[in-house]
Amino acid sequence: MAELSDQICQTIDTWRAKFPNSQARSAVLMALRTVQDADGYLSDEALENVAAYLNIPLAQVSEVVSFYSMYRRAPEGQHTLAVCTSLSCHLCQAHGLLAHLKTRLGVGPGETTQDGRFTVKVAECLAACGGAPAVLVDDQHYHECVTPAALDALIDELSESKDTADG
Ligand code: FES
Repeated sequence: MAELSDQICQTIDTWRAKFPNSQARSAVLMALRTVQDADGYLSDEALENVAAYLNIPLAQVSEVVSFYSMYRRAPEGQHTLAVCTSLSCHLCQAHGLLAHLKTRLGVGPGETTQDGRFTVKVAECLAACGGAPAVLVDDQHYHECVTPAALDALIDELSESKDTADG
């Protein structure tokens, strides 16, 4: 089993030092985030490594990963588009946005475009209900009152930023 890199271990140690020695479990969220930032997602092996490094049961790591939607269990595209489909957004045409993404990108929830640029996801309430329908981009940028036209503009912008980065 490949082990965590020295750099990842150092970062985890930094987080673990913020908690009492008996509370290594408290560092699991940031330990997982650190590994995900490095690898792009959390493999089964990564969960085992984090559990072993923090000396906590694998089940405690697994339950954290399954609870929080920001953890990725499979590789994703360069950009993620997470459409909230909880009640407020559902009532404000969130499923129309998913249908639009399917038409525009050719992929549905949980799928990645063939060029690896975009992964479409469904999100639970993003706490932006007043701006429904809401879309979370790359796990950090909130977009509210999103329309199909706004999605198109967003996709164009993200595509151009990659083209520029490649150029
Ligand atoms: S229901 Fe979509 S942000 Fe709350």
